[in-house]
Amino acid sequence: MKKLNVGIVGLGTVGGGTYTVLTRNAEEISRRIGVDVNVALVADKDLDRANELTNGKTTVTDDAFALVSSPDVDVVVELIGGYTIAKDVVLKAIENGKHVVTANKALIALHGNEIFAAATKAGVMVAYEAAVAGGIPIIKALREGLTANRHQWVAGILNGTTNYILTEMRDKGLAYQDVIGEAQRLGYAEADPTFDVEGIDAAHKLVIMSAIAFGMPLKFDEAYTEGITQIAQTDIQYAQTLGYSMKLLGITKRTDKGVELRVHPTLIPADQLVASVDGAMNAVAVQSDAVGPTLYYGAGAGAEPTASAVVADLVDVARLMGADESERPAALGYQVDQVQDIAVLPIEVVESAYYLRANATDQSAASADIEKVMAEYKIAIKQIVQKSASDLVILTDVTVEKNMDAAIAALEALPTITGKLVKLRMEALG
Ligand code: HSE
Repeated sequence: MKKLNVGIVGLGTVGGGTYTVLTRNAEEISRRIGVDVNVALVADKDLDRANELTNGKTTVTDDAFALVSSPDVDVVVELIGGYTIAKDVVLKAIENGKHVVTANKALIALHGNEIFAAATKAGVMVAYEAAVAGGIPIIKALREGLTANRHQWVAGILNGTTNYILTEMRDKGLAYQDVIGEAQRLGYAEADPTFDVEGIDAAHKLVIMSAIAFGMPLKFDEAYTEGITQIAQTDIQYAQTLGYSMKLLGITKRTDKGVELRVHPTLIPADQLVASVDGAMNAVAVQSDAVGPTLYYGAGAGAEPTASAVVADLVDVARLMGADESERPAALGYQVDQVQDIAVLPIEVVESAYYLRANATDQSAASADIEKVMAEYKIAIKQIVQKSASDLVILTDVTVEKNMDAAIAALEALPTITGKLVKLRMEALG
């Protein structure tokens, strides 16, 4: 039987899961593909951890660069993660003519353009299914299963840590500070948890999907990110009573003027399927012209769910290794010379509906003032609701962000309103 020799770099959560799944399901996998996927070498700077996991069955090294140069390795699985040596390891592997599988969303989002160009030059594959939404096969869905379609938008819950935090805040009435520690303890958070809570991790994943969905370069630097650290318990509860669920959404949308690329807390109708995605689970909704809406749900983090995607990539590599480059799917789904440099819209020109919370003691006077200001800025009010002795919640129709911000400045200058307004974006996902 043909053999694929795999070298795994990084035996943390995902690396350990990949080793376990590959060894446990080796027979099942080879029955499917007719190739023996064999872990030939593993590298981890913690040799004790590596030896404990491999139990003498696989050669272990603490030198990642020795692994990527080893003649015993056909494909390098990069599971170091983050911004440290991963890029050098991957580029060296490519230079040495090795195929690469990675779960590193930061690496692909920031350096994917360079990495894919190097891979094309070297005639090797770089596969990254595990980089987006863990075990959900969304890269394959967008790049292959939905290839007949022109996509309108992709939106999703792309970070398990923040979804867990928001779920706990809603269900247990806890404040953000009370939940973040537990979220980290569960092991879903990034090494630097600010990547999770500030929306950066979700933006890494969103940027990758926007490139595949719309045939544009990876533009992480132009993504708008807003996290959940400022979310108040009050707004989660008010949203719920008004029929909405608060989620940290990544949204990328094709418009006449360019592409929206944004991550922020968002109120979505509670009867949308995505609204019931709770805890550390992820979901991605795709709106396409031929198939219409499709929805993908599953574990977005964790050892074996992420390993499931890593191993699926290894299977693709095993199947396509001997194939001509033209027979392999393009790394980002479009032929390299067909990628278009579509403009990313700044958040100021993005259109959205809004949830606003204002502090006002004389609520009928404040409501009258709010209606006047909104009319001046041509913003339709869908609802003004008195939520407590001091809280007024306003739900607006769709307007351009900069118009909403100007109206908010005018509202904050009113004598009937105290302090700053809370502003949250709303999406119908319809
Ligand atoms: N920190 C990420 C999350 C891990 O919470 O979703 C998976 O990418």
